[in-house]
Amino acid sequence: MRDIIFATQNTGKMKEVREILKDSGRRIYSQKEAGICVEVEENGNTFAENALLKAEGVMNWCREHEIPGLPGRAAEEFLVLADDSGLEIDFLNKEPGVYSARYLGHETSYREKNADLIARLEGVPKERRTARFVCAIAAVFPDGRYETAFGTIEGYIGWKESGENGFGYDPIFYLYENDRSTAELSSEEKNAISHRGRALRKMRKLLQEKGE
Ligand code: IMP
Repeated sequence: MRDIIFATQNTGKMKEVREILKDSGRRIYSQKEAGICVEVEENGNTFAENALLKAEGVMNWCREHEIPGLPGRAAEEFLVLADDSGLEIDFLNKEPGVYSARYLGHETSYREKNADLIARLEGVPKERRTARFVCAIAAVFPDGRYETAFGTIEGYIGWKESGENGFGYDPIFYLYENDRSTAELSSEEKNAISHRGRALRKMRKLLQEKGE
């Protein structure tokens, strides 16, 4: 069974990926641990296209270079996985969507991004504040074949930030079941129901079924 290089620089995502795949029987290396400094332009129109661009970018790099953080190991020994994910707010025509990380610019803090989105929903009642997190996972094999898997979680945008866990838009994304934000959930609770948890578990099953 091949080990995994996960193509992300996002430490919040990486923490979740490790927890979700911890019993997969594969070793999981972050892009940083592998020492791979490749910037992939995310110019796809969909989450799946962007996930695939990231995973292919890193796999292609590994095929052409020594992997600095994994000396003596070749690209053939790995699967490269990548996630592209984001928040879709229905009232804002699914913004920020594929631009979630870039919304208001990479340098803007999530405190400001979250405050801006809440301000744009001023006066909008709960039933029209529907939103979802979406995640596409791409897995690229050394021979260039690939698989994709998806996951979503439905909720609504609250009126204020709440909770200290998670990352990004978690403090303003609330669940209908209990009116808690995903930043108020423990990592186990979030991973059990999240877009990323669902997509990664689907991918794990798919890879198992294909004997990869
Ligand atoms: P990506 O790295 O281009 O996939 O950017 C995904 C962005 O979507 C992140 O930087 C966050 O802003 C947002 N996002 C994705 N998943 C989550 C999550 O689980 N919680 C909060 N924000 C998320």
